[in-house]
Amino acid sequence: MAAATFLLPITSSAAAASSSSSSSWRTPVRCSAERQVLFSRIAPVYDGLNDVLSLGQHRVWKRMSVAWSGAKKGDRVLDLCCGSGDLAFLLSNCVGLHGQVGALDFSSDQLSIASTRQDLYWKACYENIKWMEGDALDLPFPSSSFDAITMGYGLRNLVDKKKAMQEIFRVLKPGSRASILDFNKSTSWMTTMIQVWMIDNAVVPVASTYGLSNEYRYLKDSINEFLTGKELEKLARSVGFSNAKHYEIGGGLMGNLVVTR
Ligand SMILES: C[S@@+](CC[C@H](N)C(=O)[O-])C[C@H]1O[C@@H](n2cnc3c(N)ncnc32)[C@H](O)[C@@H]1O
Ligand SMILES: *[C@@H]1O[C@H](CO)[C@@H](O)[C@H](O)[C@H]1NC(C)=O
Repeated sequence: MAAATFLLPITSSAAAASSSSSSSWRTPVRCSAERQVLFSRIAPVYDGLNDVLSLGQHRVWKRMSVAWSGAKKGDRVLDLCCGSGDLAFLLSNCVGLHGQVGALDFSSDQLSIASTRQDLYWKACYENIKWMEGDALDLPFPSSSFDAITMGYGLRNLVDKKKAMQEIFRVLKPGSRASILDFNKSTSWMTTMIQVWMIDNAVVPVASTYGLSNEYRYLKDSINEFLTGKELEKLARSVGFSNAKHYEIGGGLMGNLVVTR
């Protein structure tokens, strides 16, 4: 593809997006209830779209993220914003039959897909996963409950990121780690433009074949409003984590924050 045709849509994308999107979608999705509806709507196609849009790469990033959590045999671990369960299934393998995996999401539609997948795999070890409907900002667990925590593509969607980090800190056992996978928010205008271009010209058109173009336009706002790796490290330290390190993965397209209580 010639550079000119690659770059051209960037400058016109803002105008194109605002003229083609319905007025109800001009305001970014902010409150928690609206987000809950959004994730229920995308639930049936979410897994297929992830494979298409990341060319299967999200599977690799999720494996790396779970490895960073330090989860090991016999551990009691938690996957937040579990969605259809990708990270929970990986964690389940790590902790084995004598371990336990809690997987929490606030969308019952996502959870029912997750539990259907659990039945389909009919793998004995996956019986150690328990799906729970709940809010990541108000975790239904006592303090110091878990040996490791993961969260994939969840933090960006949470209204109060500081509260989310405080809750993760509270329910982690001292010395244990949380591993948080999400987009890498770039500070470079070039990368930002490429991300915006990809969403407008690859993600939204693919999503629209499933009738979900508006839902995926929200992605752009959520990346825009997200924190950079440095800001995430700072936030983690401010809520008490003794160690916080953000790693760029997938050529810097994605990022993974590793924090130690
Ligand atoms: C982009 S999906 C990620 C799913 C899965 N972790 C993955 O990586 O494939 C984000 C998930 O976060 C959930 N979510 C968003 N806000 C939440 C909250 N406040 N409490 C619990 N779950 C939430 C949504 O329902 C959705 O399933
Ligand atoms: C990832 O984000 C950081 C800023 O947080 C930026 O310096 C870096 O260039 C980004 N990586 C890529 C490949 O865009």
